[in-house]
Amino acid sequence: MPNKIERPRGTRDFLPDEMEKRREVEKLMRLIAESYGYKEVCTPTFEHLELFTLKSGEGIIEEIYAFKDKGGRDLALRPELTAPVMRLYVNECKVMPKPLRFYYFANCFRYERPQRGRYREFWQFGVELIGSDRAEGEAEVITLAYRILEKLKIKFNLHIGHVGILRKMLKDLDEKTSSKILRLIDKGEMEELKRFMNELGLNELYSSIKDTVNIKGKVDFLESIDIDKDVLERIKKVCELCEVSGVDYIVDLSIVRGLDYYTGIVFEAYAEGLGAQKQVCGGGSYRLAHVFGGEDTPSTGFAIGFDRVMEVCKIEPKKKLRVAIVNAGSYLHAFKVAEKLREKLSNVEIVTDVMGRNLKKQLSHFSDFDFAIIVGKKEEETGIYSIKDLKRGVQEKLSIEDIVNKLSRVVK
Ligand code: HAM
Repeated sequence: MPNKIERPRGTRDFLPDEMEKRREVEKLMRLIAESYGYKEVCTPTFEHLELFTLKSGEGIIEEIYAFKDKGGRDLALRPELTAPVMRLYVNECKVMPKPLRFYYFANCFRYERPQRGRYREFWQFGVELIGSDRAEGEAEVITLAYRILEKLKIKFNLHIGHVGILRKMLKDLDEKTSSKILRLIDKGEMEELKRFMNELGLNELYSSIKDTVNIKGKVDFLESIDIDKDVLERIKKVCELCEVSGVDYIVDLSIVRGLDYYTGIVFEAYAEGLGAQKQVCGGGSYRLAHVFGGEDTPSTGFAIGFDRVMEVCKIEPKKKLRVAIVNAGSYLHAFKVAEKLREKLSNVEIVTDVMGRNLKKQLSHFSDFDFAIIVGKKEEETGIYSIKDLKRGVQEKLSIEDIVNKLSRVVK
């Protein structure tokens, strides 16, 4: 016997029950994003490697699935979709009137150490609002992320920060050092940060960074600390708009994000019940279009980790009505009746026997269905069929038209 082939590490298979739930959640996310005027876009699964190495930051580069194709081109499976969507914007849409509101639902690939909630292939539902530099744009994106998580009945906390504050504190350092410092803050590795900065003789700067990242609370107490006036005004405005939209948040200046392209407001949502991989959503304002050959364009977006959301969300798909067409000696006519009913009824599962089972075995096989319609020679001749309500154990004789009417009423 040949060896059984396992799926690659960090990937998953999804069985029908799980897929049904995933599609239901996806549908809800789409509906909410569309209610804010966002339209779906789709980009390739792989891109030129350069797209992700130009500005996404070392964290991403280390985890990238990169390969050469047969023509020797350096390509990569997308680790995220912000860079691809901005490439699409520069290539196809830069003359379109702003703002542009795009959303996507797609798989991403990162070569990470797999664990619960962290996979090598995972799905993101995200949005990018392109062209707005205002607090209203940022608040809209944050509100949309919040509404999606709220409608999925997830228990979560939303943290809003601004990369401008820490970036300003690091402005005299070279890019590599400051990016490493930001990465350690993003990972919450404060001990490692202390060691790293001590080695560089940056003890004093470390102390101020530590004080800053400890700042957490409602927006008003930012007034009492010494931060850039413009940044303070922006955070206040965004928070004010979030509050009128019923968004609950805390300001948290330790949020710096793991990707290098962020320039302003940043935010993350953490869900209860997920352990270490509790970040279900991350986003913020960034500038990438000019890196890909377009004009400098302010944008804001987020991505929700779909697989993490699936672990904690309480949405259950609505069960479909299941109807069995039982062949009682007229298999051709049973096939025909099934097709007729499928054509007339939506949202109903109509299934026939394809195993050559006898009547008794069919009835036993279909016993957990909602209805069974018996199709034999007599039914074929008269056009009147026995329809059995399997849950209530009652039976009646009806024409196809009456069966359609009856089942339509049940589906409603
Ligand atoms: P990110 O924080 O790298 O941001 O990823 C967004 C979300 O994807 C995370 O919050 C997490 O829930 C999920 N995620 C990340 N890696 C994995 C993994 N290995 N397994 C399962 N889930 C994962 C971005 O990707 C940005 N492009 C977000 C953005 C959009 N910023 C602006 N616009």
